[in-house]
Amino acid sequence: MLENFVSAKELEAQACYADGVRKLVSGKGYTAFVITLGCQQNEADSERIRGILSSLGYTITQDEKIADIIIVNTCAIREHAEKRALSIIGRYKHNKSANPDTVIGVCGCMPAQAHRAEQLKHSYHYVDFVFGTGSLHRLPEFVFNALNKGKRAFVPDEQRPKIAEGLPVVRESAHKAWVSIMYGCNNFCTYCIVPYVRGRERSRLPEAVIDEVRGLVAQGYKDITLLGQNVNSYGKELEGGYNISYLLREIAKIDGEFWLHLMTSHPKDVSPELIEALGASKNIANCFHLPLQSGSSEVLKRMNRHYDIDRYMSIIDGLKAKSPDIVLTTDIIVGFPGETDEDFEKTLDIVRRVKYDSVYTFIFSPRKGTPAYEMQDQIPEQIKKARFDRLNEVQNEISRAKNEAMIGKTIKVLVDGKSKSNDQIYTSRTEGNKIVHFEADEDYTGQFIKLKITRADTFALYGEI
Ligand code: SAH
Ligand code: SF4
Ligand code: F3S
Repeated sequence: MLENFVSAKELEAQACYADGVRKLVSGKGYTAFVITLGCQQNEADSERIRGILSSLGYTITQDEKIADIIIVNTCAIREHAEKRALSIIGRYKHNKSANPDTVIGVCGCMPAQAHRAEQLKHSYHYVDFVFGTGSLHRLPEFVFNALNKGKRAFVPDEQRPKIAEGLPVVRESAHKAWVSIMYGCNNFCTYCIVPYVRGRERSRLPEAVIDEVRGLVAQGYKDITLLGQNVNSYGKELEGGYNISYLLREIAKIDGEFWLHLMTSHPKDVSPELIEALGASKNIANCFHLPLQSGSSEVLKRMNRHYDIDRYMSIIDGLKAKSPDIVLTTDIIVGFPGETDEDFEKTLDIVRRVKYDSVYTFIFSPRKGTPAYEMQDQIPEQIKKARFDRLNEVQNEISRAKNEAMIGKTIKVLVDGKSKSNDQIYTSRTEGNKIVHFEADEDYTGQFIKLKITRADTFALYGEI
């Protein structure tokens, strides 16, 4: 099992680089800017990147214009995400021309693909270093070499990236926290780039996860999300028979008032034991994100999802039987190669049957290196777009009706903070992650309060204290 972890020797070597960087930056008032694209895994990684940079002596800034080091943490899930990453990296050329000492690093899922690493090497000369998600713990080394004007570094991940425990973290929020419980993915859904850029599944030890959650609750964190590409297969490669249900039951024993969320579950691995464990404590939030991807069993087969619609619906029925008011959300891709009108109608049918609270809808984006990229019968853009619009139309009506059904109810929310546009309006979230806006004279940020819902639309609720 030790082979799953970055060795103490490697971490010591990084500590030496860190000493070196601290000497170089000491007293200079250097600042660091980290920009994050993509999913919560990247958000969590960026919190560790900020943790490492501040331990190196940098002050974290929100102002990219003045930063002495800029790190772009990229996503590769769809073409749009990569285009966005490249355009953001492009704009930092000016930072380097204005101040040639600026250090620029690119990391995350995009450069883990060889063709993207090559592109960054040849077309983005001002980028000092590029590394994959499995090499994050080596940041002190990359910064040290960049400050010493060493060669530009392009560091592909090892064949089997390892888990680095004990890295410093600077969390974005004082009340919401991500806790990665595992990294990587073994599922190879035929459309998805993640297994190629994040390597095979590896789980943290249960004590490490439980201790981290206990620490967060003690510090006053109120919303904790256990993260992994497929949290249901947590622990499979660990000795001791640990699984996600074990983690949930142990975390449920922690004293304190908090909500625990899971992100993300794969239907093929949802067991009756997990559904049971979800009810183990009031701290486990009464909501579940269960990606459907398609309502057609034939399409699911070609997606390599390992479940059919009967199996999917039996999980939904099990969740609803256990908790009738559970908040359900999902991910759906439209326009997968070969998707017929009939297949798409089946997706709409499931959406109407399940009545999700919200759906994350995506237009299929062919990813180089994945099987679906090569598949025949790619769907024309205008058909994909029409299906996307239709799906959103159907779901928006359901979301609106579900939100309107909450009018008049008094519910518990966690206050996120002031809204960006209006000083008197606050934004909060329900246990099921629905947004609730309300007015207040007092600042309740980071606290649980009760709101009476007075109004609702498709994407938000409105309430009063
Ligand atoms: N591990 C998670 C999902 C990670 S990616 C899971 O299995 O649920 C988040 C979502 O992006 C996926 O659920 C899928 O709906 C979507 N997605 C992934 N690859 C895509 C692609 N090539 N084109 C369009 N959407 C995609
Ligand atoms: Fe991608 Fe499938 Fe893994 Fe999710 S489970 S990250 S969709 S390969
Ligand atoms: Fe994007 Fe990587 Fe997440 S590809 S969605 S940042 S795992």
